[in-house]
Amino acid sequence: MENNLLFIANWKMNNAYADLVSYFNIFLPLYNQTKPVNDVVFLPPFTLLYLIKEILKATNLKWGAQNFYYESKGAFTGEISALMIKDTGSTYVLIGHSERRKYFKENSQIIANKLHKAFSENIIPIVCVGETLEERKSGKTFSVLANQMKPILKTYQNFINKEIVVAYEPVWAIGTGVNATIEEIKESHSFILSLFLKQSWVNDSNIKIVYGGSIDSKITPAIVSLDVVNGCLVGGASLKPEEFIKIVNTIRS
Ligand code: 13P
Repeated sequence: MENNLLFIANWKMNNAYADLVSYFNIFLPLYNQTKPVNDVVFLPPFTLLYLIKEILKATNLKWGAQNFYYESKGAFTGEISALMIKDTGSTYVLIGHSERRKYFKENSQIIANKLHKAFSENIIPIVCVGETLEERKSGKTFSVLANQMKPILKTYQNFINKEIVVAYEPVWAIGTGVNATIEEIKESHSFILSLFLKQSWVNDSNIKIVYGGSIDSKITPAIVSLDVVNGCLVGGASLKPEEFIKIVNTIRS
């Protein structure tokens, strides 16, 4: 796996126009000063994608959407298509976040359809997997991950030359201030990687596995010191530019 890391800011349903402007008024000078070697992706709400394009187009920072709908166009009131996402200069799209699985009932089929569409339209998918606390406590973590990975691998089989990012986000670590332990992260990432490597067709240079769940700048160095971790998907801490810049400057030791 590569040595440069990928840090993704998932802003969720936070920040409006003025917030984004003041965010980058702080973040960009720090970024230019510190010159991080890692790849950085921002996932703001849909309404800010054209604005972020204007602000970041002259930088090597990337951006993307938190969601989209897999149909190309038509009578799907309230939905946003892959082409609309691409219009905004987005390189990435988040798929199957646990909040979408939970509140918007996204199932494996929907996630596979979105993955298929993202690959077809050359948008790099960041697809999320992770167990709940009950599942972990009852020893089902690996079987849950295997089940969630099945439709992902089946879809990916048709796009083996494309990049894919899998985000391991244990549901119980999201927004709780409780990180998975380094050992738990190592086990789950190794397991997810092994599911890929079992497939004879896989080219592992196209695969990144990132960790998400209560990431902050203190815990990041230990997490990314694991060679099965390619970066982090950051929620709350990515809303604070001074904190996020510290995270994206983390070097793998
Ligand atoms: P927190 O970093 O706020 O726990 O959120 C994690 C997450 O859900 C990122 O997608």
